[in-house]
Amino acid sequence: MSKTLKNCSPLLNPIDIGTLQIKNRLAVAAMVTVYCDPDGMATERYIAYHEARAKGGWGLIITEDYAVDPAGRGFWTAGLWKDEQIESHRELTQRVHQHGSKIIAQIYHCGRQTSPDIIGCQPVSASPIPCPAMGCMPRELTIPEIKKIVCQFGDTAYRAKMAGFDGVEVHGAHGYLIAQFMSNYSNKRSDEYGGPLHNRIRFPLEIIADIRRKCGDDFPIIFRMSADEFVPGGRQIEDTKVIAKMLQNAGNAGIDAIHISVGVYGSTSAIIPPLNVPHGWIVHFAEEVKKVVDIPVITVGRINDPHLAENAIASGKADMVAMARGSLADPDLPNKFAAGDCEDIRQCIGCQQGCVQILFRNEPIRCLVNPTCGFEYLQERAKGKTNKSKRVVVVGGGPGGMEAAIAAAEAGHQVSLYEKEEYLGGEFALAPVPPSKGDMAFLLAWQQKQLQKKGVDVHLGTEFTAEMAGKIAPDTIILATGAIPSRPKIPGMDYPHVVFARDVLKGKATIGKAVLVLGGGLIGAETAAYCTEQGVKVGIVEQLSAIALEEDVTRREYLLKLLADRKVDIMTETRIVEIKKTSVVLDKNGEVCEYPADTVIIALGMESYNPLQQALSGKAKVTVIGDAVEPRNALEATREGFLAGVNA
Ligand SMILES: Cc1cc2nc3c(=O)[nH]c(=O)nc-3n(C[C@H](O)[C@H](O)[C@H](O)COP(=O)(O)OP(=O)(O)OC[C@H]3O[C@@H](n4cnc5c(N)ncnc54)[C@H](O)[C@@H]3O)c2cc1C
Ligand SMILES: Cc1cc2nc3c(=O)[nH]c(=O)nc-3n(C[C@H](O)[C@H](O)[C@H](O)COP(=O)(O)O)c2cc1C
Ligand code: SF4
Repeated sequence: MSKTLKNCSPLLNPIDIGTLQIKNRLAVAAMVTVYCDPDGMATERYIAYHEARAKGGWGLIITEDYAVDPAGRGFWTAGLWKDEQIESHRELTQRVHQHGSKIIAQIYHCGRQTSPDIIGCQPVSASPIPCPAMGCMPRELTIPEIKKIVCQFGDTAYRAKMAGFDGVEVHGAHGYLIAQFMSNYSNKRSDEYGGPLHNRIRFPLEIIADIRRKCGDDFPIIFRMSADEFVPGGRQIEDTKVIAKMLQNAGNAGIDAIHISVGVYGSTSAIIPPLNVPHGWIVHFAEEVKKVVDIPVITVGRINDPHLAENAIASGKADMVAMARGSLADPDLPNKFAAGDCEDIRQCIGCQQGCVQILFRNEPIRCLVNPTCGFEYLQERAKGKTNKSKRVVVVGGGPGGMEAAIAAAEAGHQVSLYEKEEYLGGEFALAPVPPSKGDMAFLLAWQQKQLQKKGVDVHLGTEFTAEMAGKIAPDTIILATGAIPSRPKIPGMDYPHVVFARDVLKGKATIGKAVLVLGGGLIGAETAAYCTEQGVKVGIVEQLSAIALEEDVTRREYLLKLLADRKVDIMTETRIVEIKKTSVVLDKNGEVCEYPADTVIIALGMESYNPLQQALSGKAKVTVIGDAVEPRNALEATREGFLAGVNA
């Protein structure tokens, strides 16, 4: 397919933010990475991660939130709360600048959206009202304490300037301390910092004035705010527009750009929306703000495709587009877009598994579709082709096997991939089937294209055997044979109306009018959701106290809502006793009942499928990856596949 150079795209036009000239309209949005050390210092991991995005062509990189005070940290974030932190971050800015990108430090205080486990003391806020997501009662700030934090913002911005940052983004979004002051939702004060709008924005106005005093009028300031907080009593777009204008016109020199996001911790799935949410779903808020200000407006939110970003710019709805997860998924997105290599872009699938889910455990973030995200410092990717090309066989064409084959081929090996089914994708080919999971298919489409481009010899409908290994005599065999559904010994399992979830999702098994899904893990719960699309009565039985516990909180929220809206019967802490012809016998804490069902769907876990390892021992270098090691998910499969491929 011929490629179209995108050099004339409005997305690639330069833009100024105050005195700062930026080469294109693509920004990396702020993301806590948990790559810094516990004292907020930049590590090589942190610097190499940003450097990869600078090399990849992003015009602007907005860093994770730098705490202005250790007590203002919501995670193990970077910090510039003391002079000793400047040096390590100076190396970051220098390395980013070498590649022509600009870098702005986001600065923040989390206020009540943290926990004593992280900061070692009681959180503070505008008012003593706990954040519903954190549940910890904050202490109301006194006026001298407010003045001190204002000063800390100015000092942090000054340190950012000393460290070589091109500006700061003041984090007034997502329900952190500044947002706590700006919103009636969290600010119930009756002094000059509470009540009417002009009082509630006194805190951010004083912060901007302090930054100006310490850093000068020409030091770019972006202000990030949530257009709509999506919580009862939270701020909505009309107040946001007024605030945006007031911040622009503040004092002698107001803010230089505004970055429009949404949500607070009480609506986390709006801040970082999962794949259930449409692409570009909040661009209209940027458009609204753009009507009342004349500084650049940045939009964000589920924009994972450069054409979507281009559209936001071309239609005049925003001046810049920030991508958070899109930049994790593909650090080279801008360069690939500019070169017209759009089909090579790895798109974020909104799975949340490598980024949000891991961040919420306060661990270093990763990415399901980009196995080197967060590992850039290890320089694992092959630099050019090897001169010791090996014959590599990959067994299994799921996400793990495909990633292994791509990485091995990229490293210069001769790669053959064997898949016993007539299609690629393995179990993950079923992941896009349940409602709202269509984006999952992006990964498989990308992998299949890359197999083709990298010249991998793909054998579909071919079960690889130990005998074949003898004939082909490969140097390396990567076993990515995945997992198969567990078949527990339940009386009645052999009835014809008992089917496996995977067969229902594949369309191989039809369902009746009353379906009971045995097992409420991810696969069971999502299969139940799928069945509701057919308008039938659906129940789920789960022995644990809740269902879909593997899902991250944001995806789970959407799934549970869908199941509730469609009136799915969820029976937790319930044991399966026996399957009968038209019912299933269940036991809830000793209370036995018969639940009517004309279709029983089994989703009671997976078992790794690895029948070849032993037989192949001694015939070649053998590496087992993905679910074949132990049933887990595609995040682990792609990472292990990649490592097996580069180290073939
Ligand atoms: C409905 C559903 C939803 C899911 N949703 C998610 C999700 O949202 N996120 C997530 O991360 N994971 C999800 N998963 C799990 C995910 O699909 C698996 O964890 C992942 O596919 C494992 O990848 P793998 O490459 O290790 O193995 P698999 O994808 O299982 O692939 C193994 C492949 O090996 C082939 N094979 C086996 N033996 C041979 C042989 N001898 N010769 C040739 N071929 C062979 C099989 O046919 C299969 O295609 C979901 C699974 C299902 C069923
Ligand atoms: C892992 C992760 C960490 C984040 N950390 C921050 C942060 O430090 N500051 C911030 O303003 N937003 C943060 N966000 C929100 C993003 O900046 C962005 O607004 C959100 O992810 C939606 O954009 P996207 O769809 O392009 O990912 C974070 C998002 C993710 C995924
Ligand atoms: S882990 Fe999933 S949601 Fe996060 S950036 Fe990667 S693809 Fe996107």
